[in-house]
Amino acid sequence: MRLLKTIAEAQSACRQIKSQGKRLGLVPTMGALHAGHLSLARAAHAQTDVVAFSIFVNPLQFGPSEDLQRYPRDLERDCRLLEAEGVTLVFAPSPEEMYPASPSTCVEVTELSQKLEGKTRPGHFRGVTTVVNKLFNIMAPDAAFFGQKDAQQVVIIRRMVRDLNMPVEIAVCPIMREADGLAMSSRNAYLDPPHRHAATVLHRALLRARDLFQQGERCATALAAAGRDLILAERLARLDYFELVHPETLDPLAEVSPGALVVVAAYLGETRLIDNLIL
Ligand code: PAJ
Repeated sequence: MRLLKTIAEAQSACRQIKSQGKRLGLVPTMGALHAGHLSLARAAHAQTDVVAFSIFVNPLQFGPSEDLQRYPRDLERDCRLLEAEGVTLVFAPSPEEMYPASPSTCVEVTELSQKLEGKTRPGHFRGVTTVVNKLFNIMAPDAAFFGQKDAQQVVIIRRMVRDLNMPVEIAVCPIMREADGLAMSSRNAYLDPPHRHAATVLHRALLRARDLFQQGERCATALAAAGRDLILAERLARLDYFELVHPETLDPLAEVSPGALVVVAAYLGETRLIDNLIL
């Protein structure tokens, strides 16, 4: 496995792979890898010939009061895990390498980026789409792999690729969960035992809405109220949103049908967690 730190090295390594007629798969990450990330490596192996990861804690997608400094970083451990997964190439640039001067160009998917997460995290998705665009330009993957865990991110990236005719296939992989249902996330490492225990309420609230839906409830207000009530009853959780939305427009639904997206965000202490489920 090769660890590349410069854009020039990554560009030339990817060009070489593609010149051999091989299909290149890219998994963009911010590191602190867990089984969710590794499931993307496996999906990439199944669909492409050569798998590359990027590991970059992208300052552009963190707000001024967010956890950029604190975000867990362990490149050595990440590389060991990826080597064991048969990943060929890891691109791990420094912030200075990615953003040498303060950039004046960004990529923004309007409207979709302002909804849900965008309300609490203004500028977050502009940072995501800008860095993913840069990674696509540097590495020119044939396919890129993302997790359903970040449902809004997936919707926005798909839209960017479609709107800008980017020649890359977007593949989406299921949410990997801990045994008690908590969606795996690098940020789970911030949770102390009581908050870690309470964090299962996000998934439980999603399942509660799904149960009611399966029993025939179609009113979004009723389904959302059931999910919200569960979270409001958890003393250690502070609800941000619990909504039923259209899976492509992310607009709130009145009446719910199969395929609808249930999204939740809540704070467990200082830690903001998100989760979702497709009905
Ligand atoms: P990061 O949070 O490191 O996640 C990298 C990829 O792993 C994302 O596509 C995310 O959805 C996926 N992932 C995270 N947890 C998962 C889980 N429990 N199950 C399945 N997949 C999971 O998302 C980002 O980084 C960044 O925004 C990035 C796209 C790299 C741009 O900076």
